[in-house]
Amino acid sequence: MHFNAMMTPYRELLSRTHGGLEPIVVRAPGRINLIGEHTDYNGGLALPAAINRYIYVSVTWRDDEQVNMMAAEFPSKELALSELYPCPGEWHTYIQGVAAVLLGWGYVLGGFNIHVCGDIPVGAGLSSSAALCCGTVMALDALFDLQLTRQEMALIAQQAEHTFAGVACGLMDQYACLFGKRGYALKLDFRTLQFEYVRLNLEFLDLVLLDSGVKHSLASTEYNLRKMETGRALSRVQEKHATVERLRDCSLEQLYDEVLVADPVAYKRAKFFVEENKRVETAAVALDRRKLTLMGDLLYESHQGLTALYQVSCAELDLLIQLAKEEKSVVGARMMGGGFGGCTINLIEKKYKSCIGRLQAEYERRTGIPLKAYRVMIAEGARVCNNRELRQIKYNEKSLEENYA
Ligand code: GLA
Repeated sequence: MHFNAMMTPYRELLSRTHGGLEPIVVRAPGRINLIGEHTDYNGGLALPAAINRYIYVSVTWRDDEQVNMMAAEFPSKELALSELYPCPGEWHTYIQGVAAVLLGWGYVLGGFNIHVCGDIPVGAGLSSSAALCCGTVMALDALFDLQLTRQEMALIAQQAEHTFAGVACGLMDQYACLFGKRGYALKLDFRTLQFEYVRLNLEFLDLVLLDSGVKHSLASTEYNLRKMETGRALSRVQEKHATVERLRDCSLEQLYDEVLVADPVAYKRAKFFVEENKRVETAAVALDRRKLTLMGDLLYESHQGLTALYQVSCAELDLLIQLAKEEKSVVGARMMGGGFGGCTINLIEKKYKSCIGRLQAEYERRTGIPLKAYRVMIAEGARVCNNRELRQIKYNEKSLEENYA
């Protein structure tokens, strides 16, 4: 799936696709996650942030009950509001999902035209699907005056992915997309859904994503399986410790005593979870005190856990981390997002960008796959665009690579 679009100024495009009507346009960002991977669905901690790559969702009214869905590079799809159905793998399943969840929650919608485009690389683990769902729910909220809070939008977007894309995802991507703030990461606690902003002053470092160029097909099955495996660990602990409500409440000792022998796989998964939460706490302090070398070490440790204990990495991602470790100017790196492909996140010294070229050459030599490098900036969360912003939007296919082209 790919929402990258043409060089056409956005306004021109919109007046064509919306038949001259003035659309509401929402800009929804992709996200990175500094640390705290595979923790959200177990009530853990994470440190994501919105980035300066977006999906633009524009909507207009219709006076019938039809939904007409258009995207820059996909065939359009039109159907009645009463006919919405899950079609995982199709680009429009996310839009249908959001509309269906809204209807299910009792909101009244009419027919609408919706147009989607943007520059978040798809399949790279930057949450283009969460951006599409969050952008759609925010656009429909504005169009039909639903008065949703951002938290409600996040929950609706998540449910759309659960029911219409078949991925039992947590809430990290939706929160980063909807609550992101320029220059800050969110330290999110998924037990309470509370968060605080952590200033991201990386001083002499750049945040660089290296896109492995692979997305192994087992990603969503394994994702759902990890959820079950960690659930098994929790049940074992709960049998002996009635006060434990979530995996977050479990100690390493309890896991060792109650799970290790009975279910070694579940033990490894849960051990990673407990350790990763601790790393998020340490990382937030490290960032606050500008201890960027410590931050880098935490990234490497997180990757080690994701590979050996949680087992959601793959050969290509491990190679990228191994190559990064050989470069002195890379302070830390790890795989990012659900795993089995997508990007690694790297903290790299600004003045030694030349290492990117070496990483690209070596990765391609070893795998035959070209390596894309994206430098990212931390951006604002999703919002309805005003006229000035709309005039400025001009996106193109150069993608994030422009910084290292
Ligand atoms: C995907 C999911 C998120 C989160 C990450 C792993 O991006 O959508 O909810 O679980 O994987 O941290």
